[in-house]
Amino acid sequence: MQQSTTKMNEALDIKVTKAQESRLTGTDFSQLPFGKVFSDHMFIAEYDNEKWGNLQVLPFGPIPMSPAISALHYGQAIFEGMKAYRQENGKIGVFRGNKNHERFNRSAARMSMPSISSDIFMQGIAALIEIDEKWVPSQDGYSLYIRPVMFATDPYLGVRPSDKYTFALLTTPTGPYYSKALKVKIETEFTRADEGGVGFAKTAGNYARSLYPFAEAQKEGYDQLIWTDAVSHEYIEEAGTANLIFVIEGKLITPSVRSTVLDGVTRDTIITLAKKAGIEVEERRVSVKEILDGIESGSVTDAFAAGTAATVTPIGEIGYNGKIFTLPDPSTRTISSGIAKTLNDIRYGLIPDEFGWNWIL
Ligand code: COI
Repeated sequence: MQQSTTKMNEALDIKVTKAQESRLTGTDFSQLPFGKVFSDHMFIAEYDNEKWGNLQVLPFGPIPMSPAISALHYGQAIFEGMKAYRQENGKIGVFRGNKNHERFNRSAARMSMPSISSDIFMQGIAALIEIDEKWVPSQDGYSLYIRPVMFATDPYLGVRPSDKYTFALLTTPTGPYYSKALKVKIETEFTRADEGGVGFAKTAGNYARSLYPFAEAQKEGYDQLIWTDAVSHEYIEEAGTANLIFVIEGKLITPSVRSTVLDGVTRDTIITLAKKAGIEVEERRVSVKEILDGIESGSVTDAFAAGTAATVTPIGEIGYNGKIFTLPDPSTRTISSGIAKTLNDIRYGLIPDEFGWNWIL
């Protein structure tokens, strides 16, 4: 393996070990299922003695570790999801990475994990994408999904916050997570998050606990769940893989961010673009009844999932206690499709980035 040391900006020493052979030529960019094909390299940093060090870009592959690491036993593990886009002029832009970095550190604080500096987070991304630049797809609707992850590595079975952690950045070229309008089930038995818990954090356990209810819903023919509040099941929260946004009488309505709801970057972006387009936005509690009555009366004209992986995915049908509520055909939904287009045009550099959201590498 070739080795060299790269200095990013002024500060960080990142040791680079290049893969002997690239897997690019054997990768079919027309077949990119979400999260299965990884680029040639990954970035790693290690936390020990209360500081981050050993920053490296190295070939993507297994990381040796003890089976006693506390992430495996007690779940100290957090992650993020962000994307780099190949712009019209060939340059690469990372979309709103600062928001993901901030949220990563909020998740870390809640899970008693150390924060990570924006230098390590962003320079790690820059170093990784510089070396794997050819892995950023150029097809419309495609991007390089970036998965920052941190996990506890103390080989110790006592229950306490770990002293050691690994931070890694993985990248995977990808298209949209969902390929069609979703049939979703309003979940009224199981819960994703409760007040005082960790629902706002992007931590592994939130996803683990959703898997069984999700599998049960899939058996009933659903693509995804709509989680409701843990106390009454009367209020809509989020979809687990994305936030939820509705259009009611021309207004954009979305459940407010609270301790049980992830503060989505795509959600925030859509709200900003909608307001700029003169669309009224309400962030508030949204009841199941309001949405189902509204679908029946015709006042709810759109519902969609909004997330980094999900992008903007229309919801076609909502199931509640066995009854199916059908939303208008996605082709009629001018508000969400207009916002989704503006968002894509900004990401791909087709229109001016007036909010300064693209970090051009
Ligand atoms: C993302 O949108 O990046 C997510 O984290 C969702 C993922 C769990 C599929």
